[in-house]
Amino acid sequence: MSIFLCFLFLFPLFLIIFKKISPSKMKLPPGPTGLPIIGNLHQFGRLLHSSLHKLSLEHGPVMLLRFGVVPVVVISSKEAAKEVLKTHDLETCTRPKMVTTGLFSYNFKDIGFTQYGEDWREMKKLVGLELFSPKKQKSFRYIREEESDLLVKKISKSTQTQTQVDLGKALFSFTAGILFRLAFGQNFRECDFIDMERVEELVTETETNVGTLAFTDFFPTGLGWLIDRLSGQRSRMNKVFSKLTNLFQHVIDDHLKTEQHRDHSDLISAMLDMINKPTNIGTFKITSDHLKGVMSNVFLAGVNAGVITMIWTMTELIRHPRVMKKLQEEIRATLGSNKERITEEDLQKVEYLKMVIEETFRLHPPAPILLPRLTMSDIKIQGYNIPKNTMIEINIYTIGRDPKCWTNPDEFMPERFFNTSINYKGQHFELLPFGAGRRSCPGMALGITILELGLLNLLYFFNWSLPDGMTIADIDMEEVGALNIAKKIPLELVPTLPSSFVNKKY
Ligand code: HEM
Repeated sequence: MSIFLCFLFLFPLFLIIFKKISPSKMKLPPGPTGLPIIGNLHQFGRLLHSSLHKLSLEHGPVMLLRFGVVPVVVISSKEAAKEVLKTHDLETCTRPKMVTTGLFSYNFKDIGFTQYGEDWREMKKLVGLELFSPKKQKSFRYIREEESDLLVKKISKSTQTQTQVDLGKALFSFTAGILFRLAFGQNFRECDFIDMERVEELVTETETNVGTLAFTDFFPTGLGWLIDRLSGQRSRMNKVFSKLTNLFQHVIDDHLKTEQHRDHSDLISAMLDMINKPTNIGTFKITSDHLKGVMSNVFLAGVNAGVITMIWTMTELIRHPRVMKKLQEEIRATLGSNKERITEEDLQKVEYLKMVIEETFRLHPPAPILLPRLTMSDIKIQGYNIPKNTMIEINIYTIGRDPKCWTNPDEFMPERFFNTSINYKGQHFELLPFGAGRRSCPGMALGITILELGLLNLLYFFNWSLPDGMTIADIDMEEVGALNIAKKIPLELVPTLPSSFVNKKY
């Protein structure tokens, strides 16, 4: 028999064997068909979480897309999220290397964007000790209380004139005031090199740049680079980066000038003292890039998520007067009506406020897509094969609205958290505002304290109403953002003093 006849005879056999083996071995997740080079990018609108939400309703909770030429698996169910973040946490806990994250992390010398390994572990340990430890939290308590007083004083002024307050501005100043004082040892209200307005602008600009997909990362080498340069994306990014570095350098110089770096009173001073000193930890050595990388994380990850959550909470409360009334009555009945100041002990007593915050996290998680992960080996999720080096995006926005997990998912109903063990701490995969597993948010306890404190001050001391002529139906719920998703139209409300507080002086 000639080779040709032999091949003709064996070919159908090969096909049967291949078919038998391949579906189980190579079962990739389903997904929409993409176009050459751009993949599925043409199917995305202005808000990525919302585009991925719509696509996942059609293609399922484990969906394969291509961002340009890069394979990306999008996870949109509690079960699949649990498999990634718990069962396969160790195989998926690195971050992809991208141009934007590389720049703003000072060449991956931070915690949030750096790859899994010794540097990440040591940085996380160091910042855990110098910023997040219970001991540090206790010693910074006076800062949180001073900033709370300032917030109440500012809003009280508006009650006298019956003018509306831009809550975004007030709460940004409150949150950034706390975080920059305790991490950077710097009160930006007293700085001569920057003011709070510009800090706010810079946070937004930085976030937009980090959250925008750069073509260099997703298009074939050379082509993406060229598009980023021609479109001006690269130069916009460099401009914001140089403003950010300038600010950080000012803060560092101030520490060095005043010998503040020797007292270990804040994260910057502690790290400055360690720079270039041997650490006895393998090859790990702290450099000034590590310091700026961490400053960049506090700047990016720390401030906006809290402010955004407080704004969405106040928005939902003003849209739901029944919940607002019940919450304020419970808070004032629990704390009494003659407190001069909210303390951190008070935070433990207000159960309904915690449910309101959980419900806000469910509907409006500030980071609706967790930071991207990258598979470090081949894994299986919900029976689908996910090859090594696949990017994984977890869409917690979709999970928070999944009718399989939540009754009437689109309704704002804090009572759903009554008598349930579900919380946001990373063990319940239907509610993941801080992520879960090794790469979950290390600032969770601090973030929660700040946002509970901010909200409790607003709700205990003031009643809130919409500006004259505006009704609930006029409240715009449009979203905006790239990494963190905020309410697009600023929330402006009119504060008044409750009758029992009218004669108080703040
Ligand atoms: C309400 C407040 C906050 C929310 C909702 C929040 C949310 C998140 C989320 C969703 C992630 C990504 C988790 C993942 O990819 O699985 C994250 C990571 C991170 N957050 Fe937060 N965060 C908050 C406050 C803070 C604060 C106050 C800080 C620090 C001052 C902080 C520092 C970080 C860092 C460094 C990471 C990266 C962790 C890593 O990759 O290992 N966050 N946060």
